[in-house]
Amino acid sequence: MPKKWSPDSWHGLPIQQQPDYSDPEALSSTLEQVRGLPPLVFAGEARQLRAQLADVAEGRAFLLQGGDCAESFAEFSADNIRDMFRVLMQMAVVMTFAAACPIVKVGRLAGQFAKPRSAPTESQVGAELPSYRGDIVNGMEFTPEARAADPSRLLQGYHQSSSTLNLLRAFAHGGYADLHRVHGWNLGFVSRTSQGERYADLADRITEALGFMEACGITGDSVPAMHEVDFYTSHEALLLGFEEAMTRVDSTTGDWYDTSAHMLWIGDRTRQEDGAHVEFMRGISNPIGIKAGPSTEPDGLLKLIDLLNPENDAGRLTLIVRMGADKVGEHLPPLVRAVQQEGRKVVWSCDPMHGNTVKSANGYKTRIFDQVLSEVQQFFDVHIGEGTYAGGVHFEMTGQDVTECLGGAQDITERSLADRYHTHCDPRLNASQALELAFLIADSLKKQRANGQPRIVAEAS
Ligand code: PEP
Ligand code: CO
Repeated sequence: MPKKWSPDSWHGLPIQQQPDYSDPEALSSTLEQVRGLPPLVFAGEARQLRAQLADVAEGRAFLLQGGDCAESFAEFSADNIRDMFRVLMQMAVVMTFAAACPIVKVGRLAGQFAKPRSAPTESQVGAELPSYRGDIVNGMEFTPEARAADPSRLLQGYHQSSSTLNLLRAFAHGGYADLHRVHGWNLGFVSRTSQGERYADLADRITEALGFMEACGITGDSVPAMHEVDFYTSHEALLLGFEEAMTRVDSTTGDWYDTSAHMLWIGDRTRQEDGAHVEFMRGISNPIGIKAGPSTEPDGLLKLIDLLNPENDAGRLTLIVRMGADKVGEHLPPLVRAVQQEGRKVVWSCDPMHGNTVKSANGYKTRIFDQVLSEVQQFFDVHIGEGTYAGGVHFEMTGQDVTECLGGAQDITERSLADRYHTHCDPRLNASQALELAFLIADSLKKQRANGQPRIVAEAS
């Protein structure tokens, strides 16, 4: 019999990666305020995402999850949100076209602020200060004032998430996501690259197909998916005090939902079986993810799956594999086999970012585009080899023309990293690299489809 769960049943359990607030009373009173704020998402939306992820788990759809490593207060603007949204739309269109299956779109957005760090403190020229943990906790500047964890940032994070979500909902349902605008999603700087041209060709074909369909009487009025999309939000559930304060009972079902995002995930550093994060996540009814890095063992993974998805419900759990291009070929097959043998229903998603972070010779934290691509391709190959379904991808990316990851068609070099290196945490794919990757994934999806998946194709024919 599992222990009784409540939103605060994680209190007192071993907990990793929490900030040190110097004024616990100020923290409690801020969390009390958060408790009184409206939910950011509705339980019904989280349930709908869970149902769509069940389709992914069963091979009838594909998950595209992406966004910033860490959203920031400074770079919060309508243009940035719009550009992220449209690159995700472009990627989704490219994949839908290739795989002829629905793409479930989930942003790392509207709440992806808090960061786990490899060390609690950072030293620079003789001074030691707390590490930067994301704008919702402290400031990036290396001063004692900025690095002090400040509870008022929780409120700023909440309000920024709320405005971001408001705009995303407007884009998704207010006309911007209309397939007739497929050309308009091509960003200025991307349209001048080979990826942009390839995308423009595809957009031409879609526009032509829409014209044909309309001539046959199939319009946006009869098929809402032609002029609006479902777009969901997600972030790492790291700051448990905040997540607890956002957790509410759904009046329709009586179940608990963390209303800070549709989907939440547990990071690779906080997935201890007996730890606070797993305890908290076990009781919320949202769809959830677990990051699985190279230290994940089959037995441990199965235990986590049982704790977090005891009903073996398809769509509840997404395993976000982030091994690194040099490890995924060896580490993933035993995990896939164990999960398959035990008949556990999960979505297998590939995060090709977090296992491929390196330091450039000139000191930048970066990722090599070819390694990112190689991890994705090996991920697909493993699933094709095991007869399982590669169900999704998880990226750190931006709609901006940044120079943070090396390579890609633009051939970003170590020297050019300095040009526009803006990330607050990990290096992101820029819009052109993200689109390039989408085309390459589209090829893998076609291969998987030739292999009999997604099943929607088999069922329809
Ligand atoms: C992240 O997704 O930003 C992250 C920190 O990932 P991981 O937990 O896989 O290291
Ligand atoms: Co990251």
